Amino acid sequence: MDQIPLTPMVWADGRLRLLDQTRLPQEEVWLTLAGCRDVVEAIASMRVRGAPAIGVAAGYGLALAALAGDASGHRALMTQLRAAAAELCATRPTAVNLSWATTRILEAAEAAATPAAIRLAVLAEAQRIQEDDIQANRRLGRLGAELLPQRATVLTHCNAGALATAGYGTALGVVRAALKAGKQIRVLASETRPQLQGARLTAWELARDGIDCTLIVDSACGALMRRGDIDVVVVGADRIAANGDTANKIGTYQLAVLAKEHGLPLYVAAPVSTLDLSLANGDQIPIEERPPEEVTAIDGRRIAPEGVDALNPAFDITPQRLIRAIITERGVARPPYEQSLRALTERVEARA
Ligand code: MRU
Repeated sequence: MDQIPLTPMVWADGRLRLLDQTRLPQEEVWLTLAGCRDVVEAIASMRVRGAPAIGVAAGYGLALAALAGDASGHRALMTQLRAAAAELCATRPTAVNLSWATTRILEAAEAAATPAAIRLAVLAEAQRIQEDDIQANRRLGRLGAELLPQRATVLTHCNAGALATAGYGTALGVVRAALKAGKQIRVLASETRPQLQGARLTAWELARDGIDCTLIVDSACGALMRRGDIDVVVVGADRIAANGDTANKIGTYQLAVLAKEHGLPLYVAAPVSTLDLSLANGDQIPIEERPPEEVTAIDGRRIAPEGVDALNPAFDITPQRLIRAIITERGVARPPYEQSLRALTERVEARA
């Protein structure tokens, strides 16, 4: 574990440098994004993905929009920034981190007096969001690590690691912190059809850091639980409603049902920026539908017969009753989540 900590993006010289996750693990390609539209494209096409990471990227998208925007007056620049924020938020509707980050930045911009001050404020806030996310992951990682047994095989789904955040990761942050605390942890990564974030990204980042990781196909999870090969499931989240219902990568719900059947705990690890207490329950969370071609083809090569259609919901909702606890940087929330999640955000507001 002597690698430089992994981060999916870096701000340098007025540009956003972004690791293109669609090219991993074959190639490590760093893109240079010079305009907000480039960031919109990168999020929509999943060059950057994972709820916290797209929130951070959206922040830098607004920084680019502010740099290129109308310098004639406060109102003109704010109008442009609001339009840019709306475009960024429309890219991927499930992750609440997009609107959370852009709202935070627009508020900072609004408080600045001149276009020059707006530019400085937007960039400073984007950088704070990035730094805060790394700290949040480290804290929630430490809290989550305490929940893992001294020796455990952890099943994770999709990629909720350094690549999906500003760095360190949420679900994989829990794994990293547990290893640091001296626990013996082995990871099973489900490949995560159709975009294969488990096979391509989780396996890549854990191998890079020397963490024991074994890849399995999505449909092996139940059989391996039944065989006693899995001790605990830890996943990330794209949006968590007030009652604890959680949107995460498609397939999480069936893992939660299987975990319940086999008496295994399923933990959700997410920063408070992923909570959306304005929604009473998961039925109100918008679910992103992605193009059918992601299902009918792998890596651009068609695997289904021509003319066959496919459904491709990118996320599902795990009902709160299937979640043992929600691990955040402010503390570990347990049922009843209406009270425990609200208490965590009130603590945030009290500190702000
Ligand atoms: O479609 P993706 O790759 O953006 O989906 C990512 C996930 O579902 C992650 O589990 C979630 O965003 C949390 S990342 C810390």
